[in-house]
Amino acid sequence: MQKDVLAEKFLDVFGSSPEVYSRAPGRVEILGNHTDYNEGYVLSMAVDRYTSLAMKHSSGNFRIYSDLVEEPLVEFPHSEIAIKTNSWVDYLKGVVIALKSKGLEVTPVDIFVTSDVPLSAGMSSSASFEMALVEAFCLLFSFELSMAEKAKVGQSCENDFIGANTGLMDQFTSLSGEEGSFVFSEYRNFEVKRIPFPAGCGFVVFNTAVKHDLSLDYNVRRQACENAVAEISKSSRGIKALRDIDQQLLASYKSLLGKDVFARALHVVGENERVSKALSFLSVGDIESFGQLLFDSHQSSIENFENSCPELDFLVKASIESRFCLGARLSGGGFGGISIHLVQDQQLKEFREEMSLIFEQEFGFRPKSYVCKSANGASSHKYLS
Ligand code: GLA
Repeated sequence: MQKDVLAEKFLDVFGSSPEVYSRAPGRVEILGNHTDYNEGYVLSMAVDRYTSLAMKHSSGNFRIYSDLVEEPLVEFPHSEIAIKTNSWVDYLKGVVIALKSKGLEVTPVDIFVTSDVPLSAGMSSSASFEMALVEAFCLLFSFELSMAEKAKVGQSCENDFIGANTGLMDQFTSLSGEEGSFVFSEYRNFEVKRIPFPAGCGFVVFNTAVKHDLSLDYNVRRQACENAVAEISKSSRGIKALRDIDQQLLASYKSLLGKDVFARALHVVGENERVSKALSFLSVGDIESFGQLLFDSHQSSIENFENSCPELDFLVKASIESRFCLGARLSGGGFGGISIHLVQDQQLKEFREEMSLIFEQEFGFRPKSYVCKSANGASSHKYLS
């Protein structure tokens, strides 16, 4: 939402003007599935959908209002910051606590928040909320944090307060997005590079509406990856994460690891390789080969990581058969959520229509879909008083 419109809405609710404005985008993961917490590589993209908020110091309690929920105004004293409510307000609490654990004290604020990032769909509405909060707090309280530190505040909120052991990719992408670019990120040295978005192409995103609590299977998958590293590092030197393992080394441990752990690790190792290949293909404009990597990634999700579902498989299979689609896969944690589909610009409309129709014939409803453009990352501004 535009800065000025948000200021008016804030005034209506709280009776005074806000001091700062921030916004942070959602994201789609292009390649590099479950690689971030394995110190690996990711290609992702911030999308042109944002969580935006206006904020001001409060003299009493924390007060937060969202036009997206039924009971919009939530109020609580500072003394209740660590009390979980199992609602969206927990993200505010988790972020405040994470800042506090870095020695950065946040006093009560009033917040008006809104978003056009689809909620609980796999486009990281929660990370965009966290990053919009962090940006606003940094400006309002003059905190100086690097990009990685800001991202880690969001991760700490997820890991330590919400209970989802997620990596840093969602927050990194939300902070580092740039119009016309993919975000390439790596999670050992925390480096980020922008890669030009292929000209003449776009992504259609389908929301399967299959919801999944990421804190369940996600954490189990993460544990399997850690078990693989623990086993391999017993006898191979210098192995700290799946990032350090290639397919050949992994294959030599196949019998020792057991079927499931081997398959989970194979997915991650394959994803790291696919990200590297993607960079080469993109650098020479080979979009067909790049698109094929997306199909390959999805196949590995089906066979190895087992983080797909029938709705996602249907969309990807139909994309392989469609003459319009260059590549498709599930995006993000998996087990439901969204799929992404790479299509030439002039065919986006036709493809979207074609897929919506056949999905409806199979599952009885038209899935929500979005044409997503690469977008700029999080930002914040002061309102002039
Ligand atoms: C979720 C997590 C990310 C990442 C992806 C899978 O989006 O929040 O950290 O692990 O799943 O790649």
